Amino acid sequence: MAGVSETSRGGFSNKLGFILAAAGSAVGLGNIWKFPFEVSDGGGGAFVVMYLAFCFLLCFPVMLAEIAIGRNTNKNAVGAFTAQGNKPWSAVGKLGVVTGIFILSFYNIVAGWALGFAIEMFAGNFSLGQNFGEFVGNWQLNLLFSSIFMVVTVVIVSRGISGGIEKASKILMPSLLVLILALMTYSLTQDGALEGVKYYLIPDFSEVTFETAYGAMGQAFFSLSLGMGALITYGSYVGKKDNMVHATFMILLTDVGIAFIAGLMMFAFIFSQGLDPSNGGAGLIFTVLPGAFESIGPVMGRIIGGLFFVLLSFAALTSTVALLEVPVAYVVDEFEVRRSRTVWIVGLVIFLFGIPSMLGNGTVEFFSEFITYSSGKTVSFMDFIENLASDTFMPLGGLLISFYTAWVWRGDNFKKEIENGNPNFGNSLLGKYTIFALKYLAPIILGSITIITILLKFF
Ligand code: PHE
Repeated sequence: MAGVSETSRGGFSNKLGFILAAAGSAVGLGNIWKFPFEVSDGGGGAFVVMYLAFCFLLCFPVMLAEIAIGRNTNKNAVGAFTAQGNKPWSAVGKLGVVTGIFILSFYNIVAGWALGFAIEMFAGNFSLGQNFGEFVGNWQLNLLFSSIFMVVTVVIVSRGISGGIEKASKILMPSLLVLILALMTYSLTQDGALEGVKYYLIPDFSEVTFETAYGAMGQAFFSLSLGMGALITYGSYVGKKDNMVHATFMILLTDVGIAFIAGLMMFAFIFSQGLDPSNGGAGLIFTVLPGAFESIGPVMGRIIGGLFFVLLSFAALTSTVALLEVPVAYVVDEFEVRRSRTVWIVGLVIFLFGIPSMLGNGTVEFFSEFITYSSGKTVSFMDFIENLASDTFMPLGGLLISFYTAWVWRGDNFKKEIENGNPNFGNSLLGKYTIFALKYLAPIILGSITIITILLKFF
């Protein structure tokens, strides 16, 4: 199958291509950069347990629903609802487009950090970990790295589905996994690593608050690229006979597996370096890892450190591609404009919207201390956009998609779509659970956590 031309929508060459691309969209900074600092914000093991529960019990059904809507309609996140005859619901897709724009705006900046760190690690600049504040405060450098990142993303997206996205994922995802596994093994041999493992794996539920649940829920959605139409868009490129249940499991297991291993590695390193996980924030991996690479040795440390950040940048790239694809597919399908030009314009708009996030790391005070929540915590523009998009809009999108699938599109039609490729789905326990979760569990749980936390956090 050729890439997307100006006239056809293109598609994945086969099911494996889809799984790899969707897993590539899921695996990214969310697993390796965001997951560890969310775990430490959430107090450790209890957060991990809640995150896993959200992923398997709630996100699995929502993911299946998204992919099914996409394949059923062959449309983008907005057009899919209209194609099913429910135009008012296309607002859910529009919320997804906005969410994608918000996320990509700051994601691209963090991806730029990863790129910069790759270069610095190869150069043997291990002290960068202690100078992270200076690094992110250097806006000229950040401007450079994040522009490079956005341009590469735009070029890949403009070449279409199987041309760009598929090929890159096939090589780079497995390499990243191998490297993280090796680093995890190394991290566990360090003195003090066991304390980190305990912190990470032994839950202390007495520390759990509503905000912990909200964070775990947001992290699950963010990491799985869920609730904002990315998987509707990707699902629209899936073959009619493919087994979507199997594909969904593969994506979920890959994503959760990589986050889990990365977390183990990070907490082993954090504790073996005698650091306090609770004050890492968004800089956590960038402050901890250079020291860990240094401990490997002067030459090997450079190579492994550089390679790690190169692969992290690639993992980020398969995610930025998915993030950009959502608004681009929407504009291209709905307004029938040329893909090649649209990609550049949308990319530029998102890039500009990311500038306050870039300046909010110490350069401009207004963006650095952008808003104070009712808890008294003051956060930067970037943190605020991240909280809004990943912890609020994504679960909200997931909630609306679940409700829509079960009650508006209807469970039977959803089941029929899945049964192309998985004929026994409807009668299986999993099928019954999925429908139940979409009908009741997801709307109730996601709805109440979102509402309560919005009230607690923002008012
Ligand atoms: N899931 C990606 C990550 O973990 C981020 C992402 C969100 C990508 C939404 C696409 C859509 O890094």
